[in-house]
Amino acid sequence: MSTILSVDGLRKTFSSGFIPRRQEILKGISFSVAAGEIFGYLGPNGAGKTTTINCVLGLIFPDAGRIELCGRPHLDPRSKTKVGFLPENPYFYDYLTAREFLDFYGQLFGIGSDARRSRVAKLLTLVDMERAADLPLRKFSRGMLQRIGLAQALINEPSLVILDEPLGGLDPLGRKDVRDIILRLRGEGKTVLLSSHILQDIEMICDRVAILVGGRILSQGRLIDLISEKILFTEIVVSGVGEKDLAAHGEPLSAQSGRTLLKVYEDSRVPAVLDLVRDRNGKVHSLLPRTQTLEDLFVDMVRPQ
Ligand SMILES: Nc1ncnc2c1ncn2[C@@H]1O[C@H](COP(=O)(O)OP(=O)(O)OP(=O)(O)O)[C@@H](O)[C@H]1O
Ligand SMILES: [Mg+2]
Repeated sequence: MSTILSVDGLRKTFSSGFIPRRQEILKGISFSVAAGEIFGYLGPNGAGKTTTINCVLGLIFPDAGRIELCGRPHLDPRSKTKVGFLPENPYFYDYLTAREFLDFYGQLFGIGSDARRSRVAKLLTLVDMERAADLPLRKFSRGMLQRIGLAQALINEPSLVILDEPLGGLDPLGRKDVRDIILRLRGEGKTVLLSSHILQDIEMICDRVAILVGGRILSQGRLIDLISEKILFTEIVVSGVGEKDLAAHGEPLSAQSGRTLLKVYEDSRVPAVLDLVRDRNGKVHSLLPRTQTLEDLFVDMVRPQ
């Protein structure tokens, strides 16, 4: 598969404070995004995700490193026309309607009026906002604004769409809507680079991820390769068996409902728990082996820093 974005050895230092102190924020970042994939750029607050994106977009200049977009240096004007961008905290001009807002961005890209009209209509459909198309943006909820922001990032029909924290501040329904739109983009053959620290969302939609901690990429690859299938522990919910008896096999936690959640860390002990419940005429309500999640991997990497 062809590479649409490659970042190689990126370094960036900022000076800040009253007595300026230099701090290296990006310490030699390398990653590449292949055409047609959804690439998740993960990292804790302050890791340097937005700084990386700003370098890729040519908004700030790195101290060292190479960035190529569609096989050309990233500052080449021809590369930029291929990129769409939704910033972390987008600004929306409140008094425009959704349709006028998108039309305005279309004009900035020099798209003719007929093409603009049909493109705006298509994008409003893509983000499910036809019904609110003629309402001023000040009446929009955060979730609706985010969808209009996504449409704006697509106005120039980019091959690569860069979304900085597109799921931030959204409720679970809003997150699902935005996730679905991102998946739809991949369906249309677009490539998406998104930064986030909402790990479940990344886990659900990204093909590959890079994990940035302290200015370095500590891990990158396909999610299925990064996360091991190993069972970490098994959660068994039982009733009719005393907590003391269960404690011989794992960590019990009783609820008022009379049910006990038992965490069993040794796989080989699971059958013994089931035998115990049968002996006491108890009941097994659920049994759930927990494998590693992206969150486990993330916590393991971030904590030692
Ligand atoms: N222009 C700047 N001048 C000085 N320091 C900066 C500048 N821009 C960013 N930084 C610092 O660089 C670090 C990384 O910031 P950045 O915004 O890239 O992190 P992030 O990973 O996007 O975090 P978040 O998840 O909170 O958005 C922070 O410590 C920030 O204070
Ligand atoms: Mg950021």
